[in-house]
Amino acid sequence: GRLLKIAIDGPAGAGKSTVAKLVAEKLGYVYIDTGAMYRAVTLQALMDKIDMRDETSLTRLAESVGLVLRVDEKGNTRIVLNGVDVSFQIRTPLVSRCVSQVSQIPGVRQRMMQLQKDMAAGGGVVMEGRDIGTTVLPDAEMKYFLTASVEERARRRYAELLQRGFTVTLEEVLADMAERDYIDAQRAVAPLKPAPDAEIIDCTGMTVDQVVDIITSRVSGRS
Ligand code: C5P
Repeated sequence: GRLLKIAIDGPAGAGKSTVAKLVAEKLGYVYIDTGAMYRAVTLQALMDKIDMRDETSLTRLAESVGLVLRVDEKGNTRIVLNGVDVSFQIRTPLVSRCVSQVSQIPGVRQRMMQLQKDMAAGGGVVMEGRDIGTTVLPDAEMKYFLTASVEERARRRYAELLQRGFTVTLEEVLADMAERDYIDAQRAVAPLKPAPDAEIIDCTGMTVDQVVDIITSRVSGRS
């Protein structure tokens, strides 16, 4: 069938990555994690000791940074930043705390959006983020906005971080996540919100497979 563009947006911890990855696998599509790109720019900014409010330096950094995304044999996103695989380093709590500041900057978003549009140009992609349906791929054939209660989202993120070996408390994860969602939803450029033509799925109490089935069943009718 036709190769579609599928946009999956929503707040942190709603299960977007897991769902998007499985949908891509089932359809033989490419999974693109756009959050990883903003995280990589943030990591480079931290390494370069750039002030997180310095728009000019952060824009220059985003414009010059080398970013390569690929999916490994386990289906996980690998991200190569200026030639170095930083797939693990971009998930640290420090990067999570700073990324929303970096991603508010128009010049940073401009470059990331261009890279993302190029990656999706041929179709056959499941692209996950905050502004994919509204801004990056307004022409996507299918748009989903995944949400869940803030408690459920925090519990998921907490379990994920523990599994990765980080020492955090549930309270810290909840506070950081709520702050990040607030900044993401309030920013001037491409804020977190459902596209008018997105289907909103509240994943609270749903299994991953249930959500994946909803999305893939719709695709069979469309491609
Ligand atoms: O998806 P993830 O939680 O890894 O995204 C990290 C951060 O990157 C988000 O909190 C948001 O600030 C930013 N982001 C964005 N636009 C996207 C994807 C992520 O602003 N499309």
